[in-house]
Amino acid sequence: MTVFKDKSKIQKHIAHYKAQGITVGFVPTMGALHYGHLSLVREALANNALCVVSIFVNPTQFDNAEDLKKYPRTLDKDVKLLETVSKAIIIYAPSVEDLYGADTKVEHFNFDGLEFEMEGRFRTGHFDGVATVVKRLFEIVKPDQAYFGEKDYQQLAIIKKLTEKHNCPVQVKGWKIHREESGLAMSSRNIRLKPDYKRAAPFIYKTLQAAKIKFGTKSAKEVTEWVEKQFAQHELLELEYFSIADIKTLKPVKRKSKTKTYRAFIAAYADDIRLIDNIALN
Ligand code: PAJ
Repeated sequence: MTVFKDKSKIQKHIAHYKAQGITVGFVPTMGALHYGHLSLVREALANNALCVVSIFVNPTQFDNAEDLKKYPRTLDKDVKLLETVSKAIIIYAPSVEDLYGADTKVEHFNFDGLEFEMEGRFRTGHFDGVATVVKRLFEIVKPDQAYFGEKDYQQLAIIKKLTEKHNCPVQVKGWKIHREESGLAMSSRNIRLKPDYKRAAPFIYKTLQAAKIKFGTKSAKEVTEWVEKQFAQHELLELEYFSIADIKTLKPVKRKSKTKTYRAFIAAYADDIRLIDNIALN
């Protein structure tokens, strides 16, 4: 398993393969890898002879200094886990200096309004940080395809918009949400959940599933009120937002239309840990 910490070295390495016509599948991550990440890696390897995984806890996308400090960093374990998938994976685990240079600057982007909905409303500057780092990573790795999870559906939509607006020569692929047996969406943050909260957290997906059924016969407003009531009655989980949104604009639906496709999104706190999940509605 090759772990590169230095961008010029990994660039040389990748260029060598690309010169032979080998395509590169790329999976950007912040590490603390779990089976959700591995499902993206497997998909990248199914479509490309070479798979590059980046492991980098990106400081510019955290709006909360405490969250950044507590974010799990488990590089050795991550490398071992990736080895169970394939020894041919290339890992890029740079320092902040290697990736950003001397000045950790954030670029500001216009994503036609996608950035102001949901996560954008509650995590100021988050998507500028995500797009800054992903754009840099694309410039370094030069992947043919890049894989992003639907777990972070808004992020996936924004990265698609980024590549469209900035003419990045990469195909962005979405991949389905990998869940624990309980239904809880896998997340690097789950390992920080205390036992009571870990037991409570599957409520998020159960509520999304129930909301999906209700959306068949009820209005978005009725479903939203119902979900908010369920969380208000819950002793351990605190709802930050619930939104039923048009997947094209990510704006909350006002009046249902048969020609549009919708998803329901939740962000909720389990203790001090913020969890997000979503489900396709139609
Ligand atoms: P991270 O949270 O590590 O996630 C890396 C990728 O794994 C993202 O595309 C995310 O959507 C996907 N992922 C996470 N949990 C998943 C699950 N349960 N099922 C399927 N896919 C899942 O997202 C980031 O890192 C960062 O914002 C990043 C894009 C790397 C930029 O710093």
